[in-house]
Amino acid sequence: MSFQKRSHVCGELRPHHAELTIHLTGWAHKVRDLGGVLFVDIRDRSGLVQMVIDPAVIPADLDLRTEACIAATGKVVLRSESLKNPKLPTGEVEVIVSEIQVLSPSKTLPFALSDEEHMGNVNEELRVKYRYLDLRRPTMYRNLAVRASTVRRFREYLNHQGFLEVETPIITKSTPEGARDYLVPYREETGLWYALPQSPQQYKQLLMVAGVERYYQVARCFRDESSRADRQPEFTQLDMEMSFVDQEEILTLVEDMTRTVVNGVIEEFGLAKEPVADFPRMTYDEAMRDYGCDKPDIRFGLPLFEITDLVADTEFAVFKNTIETGGVVRAVRYPSGSKLSRKDVGALEEFTKGFGAKGMASIALGTTEDFPEGVALPGGLVARTSLSRFFSAEQLQAIADRAAAESGDLLCIIADQLSTTNDVLYRLRLEIGDRLALRDPKKLAYLWVVDFPLVEWSDADGRWSSMHHPFTKPKDSDLDFLESDPARVRADAYDLVCNGSEVAGGSIRIHRPDVQQRIFNLLGIDEATQKDRFGHLLEAFSFGAPPHGGIAPGIDRLIMILTDTDNIREVIAFPKTGGGADPMMGAPSTIDPQQWAELGLRKA
Ligand code: AMO
Ligand code: AMP
Repeated sequence: MSFQKRSHVCGELRPHHAELTIHLTGWAHKVRDLGGVLFVDIRDRSGLVQMVIDPAVIPADLDLRTEACIAATGKVVLRSESLKNPKLPTGEVEVIVSEIQVLSPSKTLPFALSDEEHMGNVNEELRVKYRYLDLRRPTMYRNLAVRASTVRRFREYLNHQGFLEVETPIITKSTPEGARDYLVPYREETGLWYALPQSPQQYKQLLMVAGVERYYQVARCFRDESSRADRQPEFTQLDMEMSFVDQEEILTLVEDMTRTVVNGVIEEFGLAKEPVADFPRMTYDEAMRDYGCDKPDIRFGLPLFEITDLVADTEFAVFKNTIETGGVVRAVRYPSGSKLSRKDVGALEEFTKGFGAKGMASIALGTTEDFPEGVALPGGLVARTSLSRFFSAEQLQAIADRAAAESGDLLCIIADQLSTTNDVLYRLRLEIGDRLALRDPKKLAYLWVVDFPLVEWSDADGRWSSMHHPFTKPKDSDLDFLESDPARVRADAYDLVCNGSEVAGGSIRIHRPDVQQRIFNLLGIDEATQKDRFGHLLEAFSFGAPPHGGIAPGIDRLIMILTDTDNIREVIAFPKTGGGADPMMGAPSTIDPQQWAELGLRKA
């Protein structure tokens, strides 16, 4: 089929194009029939413009339905004042069509993709199944464009800084980052398997042994774990590694790179974001103490506070039992929360139970008018609380002081073991931040979390496991405690956090075989397994390995923040759905009997 090539793109038409005869190609975004005259919005990736088609120019057999692929010729005219559409960049003009051609008709669509509001309610499975249609939406195209620009800018920055882009294998051996591997059977010999890399971690370290000195890769990583709002089984890192560096140098480079790249993207797309400002630092211990998590959203305050010492001699059974069994009592302040009804406070308690709390106690602070039946505190505030039977006015005052509480506050108190208490209060603080609109979408609040513990104890496995990965270097000053007191060993490991999301993680690496072996021992990896799984790395370290370190920003998560989406699937062209499936391709799928046989596999 021949068709007239376009002379303009739809989104560029403005009043100065008036009176020009132009050719457009694109899709019929919306088709309205007003008494025989067709009003058709034609859309290409640049935007859309309204066309007016008189019945006289419409061929009898024209199958022009929404999302048909079309070509049109027409004259640009100015719209009259009352018909201008200020919401549309092309809204001052329209195209009077003289010729219209359907290049490819469209069946009835599975969803109305021109209607953004409707699209918000469409089942995600269906959107992913018809991804090629979903991606026709301007918002989705823009997400892809923001992503492409970000990656291009990262490349430009790193190329300029003397980094070499190197591709590493996808079909390889297990490279652990703490998730389950995706495995590929080896056809030549039954029982042997490849693993897809959870990250290029070992390869990039081997590239440092190889003398590459500065490496990066836009690297696909594979982790067989259930997808969540910010997690996909297949995702992309900007993987980086450098030789002869210390932590400071890596952090400084990443700060400069982030500023350059992110500010550039903000400007290019006119994103509603303030430019990246500073990169404060916080130790892991401080983050856990003040925010109950290792990725605090510091766009707002409201730090958690401890009241275990203030309630230690209580008769209140919940607190008493918790403290006696080694637990803690901690709390967060909810400004204006004292206005909540008992029912609303009950709902908040249910919210905390959803994250594992056994209950939530609260103290509402106000005036005598607010709480005529309340407890008058020595400082002048009046408290309404279920704890009044167990605590004196002085004790309640001490808690209010610890919170730096003001009239109107609700103090939300959780008693439990430290990890549960922290986790619940971490979520509750974010919930309060959301309710009070303190999580300003215009802000990009970056933060380094440093000095992570090297290992954490896993009750489930009955052994130590790496907080980051097994190649992370313990701090020199803590090396002596590796065997005697592993919990106290800190690592040269750092995470970059933005708006409460972990957007990068990295560390200085071990480059001495003896230290690496001690870590494997600590992790309960016996010598035979060490040799089998990591022998190549240990051997490489015995041939003059340079001191090295690196980091890997998660590209998907950065794009989520830049495009203001809380679902990672919105920023990936072809994502997996909940169960790790691709409903569009129909993957995973069955294989032929011959393939089973070739691989020497049998159904269980
Ligand atoms: P880590 O496992 O911390 O480190 O990953 C680095 C960054 O990748 C992103 N990320 C993910 N994004 C989407 N879906 C996932 N399932 C997912 N998992 C991780 C996060 C995270 O901060 N080899 C090390 C890096 C290093 O030490 O240099 C690594 O993979 O933004
Ligand atoms: P209960 O004795 O379980 O009925 O709880 C009495 C009060 O203590 C109620 O206000 C509960 O919401 C609160 N509470 C119960 N468990 C906890 C907990 N683990 N931490 C804080 N408050 C709790």
